[in-house]
Amino acid sequence: MQRHDVLVVGAGLAGQRAALEAVRAGLDVGMLSKLHPLRSHSAAAQGGINASLGPQDSVKDHVFDTVKGSDYLADQDAVEILCREAGPIVIEMEHFGTIFNRAADGSLDRRAFGGASYNRTIFSADRTGLALLQGLYEELSREKRLKVYEEWSALDLVVRGGRVQGVVALDRKSGNIDGFAARAVVIATGPFGRTYPNTTNSHASTGDGTALAYRAGAFLKDMEMVQFHPTCLPGSWILITEGARGEGGILRNGKGERFMSRYAPNKLELASRDVVSRAIATEVQEGRGFPDGTCRLELMHLGREKVETKLQEIVEFSRNFAGIDPVVEGIPVYPGQHYMMGGVSTNPRAETNISGLFAAGEAACVSVHGANRLGANSLLETLVYGKIAGTNAASSASKAPASDLSQADVDRAVQRVHAIWDRKQGEPPAVIRNDMQKAMREDVGIYRTPQQLEAARAKLVELQKRYLNVYVQDKSTTYNVNLTDALELGYLLDLAQAIVAAAILRTESRGAHVRLDFPKRDDANWLKHILVQSSPKGPALSFLPVTVTSYQPMERHY
Ligand code: FUM
Repeated sequence: MQRHDVLVVGAGLAGQRAALEAVRAGLDVGMLSKLHPLRSHSAAAQGGINASLGPQDSVKDHVFDTVKGSDYLADQDAVEILCREAGPIVIEMEHFGTIFNRAADGSLDRRAFGGASYNRTIFSADRTGLALLQGLYEELSREKRLKVYEEWSALDLVVRGGRVQGVVALDRKSGNIDGFAARAVVIATGPFGRTYPNTTNSHASTGDGTALAYRAGAFLKDMEMVQFHPTCLPGSWILITEGARGEGGILRNGKGERFMSRYAPNKLELASRDVVSRAIATEVQEGRGFPDGTCRLELMHLGREKVETKLQEIVEFSRNFAGIDPVVEGIPVYPGQHYMMGGVSTNPRAETNISGLFAAGEAACVSVHGANRLGANSLLETLVYGKIAGTNAASSASKAPASDLSQADVDRAVQRVHAIWDRKQGEPPAVIRNDMQKAMREDVGIYRTPQQLEAARAKLVELQKRYLNVYVQDKSTTYNVNLTDALELGYLLDLAQAIVAAAILRTESRGAHVRLDFPKRDDANWLKHILVQSSPKGPALSFLPVTVTSYQPMERHY
């Protein structure tokens, strides 16, 4: 049994930033991750991080753009914190060693991004997530008192007497299962985009921490809000950064029209993501796409030098995964699942409804993104709210009684895992996962109908039953990916059910959630968050008011 004051589960940007803060508060901190920290999904973020550092820009404008982008579902007090802390946190990252692009005068260069009134996206070419991750990891590596558990999958979050007691986890290297007692736990396990097949998310993005918190009684929030990024490479679903449009890239349909003028006459390609994704999907659905069912993102007019220096990865991805050279031809693009606005419900102190349990980053929902996140606000959220989670987890742990996590908690997890592992026959996880992903792609996409959502709900109930008989063919103990796939599938199924339940309940269209039977936003009835809690009968739904401080809802135009 391992013991710490604070245990951080997840080692991407949010987890690392939380761990740094807690260890610098003088506490004994453990950080547990199923990957090496530098392989976390934060590394996949490309285009940049928002901070209102430009001469005409302001925190106020950043707040307004974020609230407008969220279709007024974001909690404005949480957004104010996000935007106020943005400048300091970016400068801090620079001091930690992150190398950002520079403008000719030596200041931090800024590019345009969707839904923003000014160029406020600070960037490192098109590898900003990786650059931040490396800078933060280097800083964290100075903290010799931090204990990092790499390649451990969390299996259970133990809560007793209304307070978190710790985590039980599986060592992927050996197959051993052990307990991690803690007075406070931070969940920072990133997204659960692998509920969909057409996703930019890494294979590891299976929502482990979010699902474990849900199973342990935590509320989830805004789960119906699933973001589709407008420009992905169909097939591989690799992200083509919004930074490409920020640098001047334009979208054309199969007729050669720059169609965004019909959907967002002022911002065109730099409207918010929900608007641009719907525009591309509509062009294709209405027969104006290319024969391969895509639109084209053109960068040719920007010139070879700009494209090859500021968008290096995009050039490589296009050449290697689409077989085209974006310096001379358009990139075929279509929207793919990219981000979950929903997650473990927290307040602006990163606290959940369970004492001692905190959450941050994409695993959490504070909610700063509401119904639609603006590009480059997610890297920002990981750092700002990761830091807040670390501070408050440290303070909670210092006042908390010792954890009572026991061998009995470990044994329960061992029994549950071995019931799957030792099963002699059944259905492979990949078959159930494919059926889940097919249902999510076909029925819980950009446009939603009640019939589709009900079909997805019924399918997920069937899949949960089939999951009771999931079969792990590989009986080995070292890096048993077959076993971890089966466990992760359980998390994905729970979270997919939560997404669908909330999507059925919200009978309006707002941000990324578009119901064809309720095409308008309905502030009178729906300016509220949906909370989801696990119950023996399935997802139990309730509501939470939206915090409005400065900006009353208005119609959105771009
Ligand atoms: O398009 C992008 O580079 C993605 C950024 C983000 O999701 O914030």
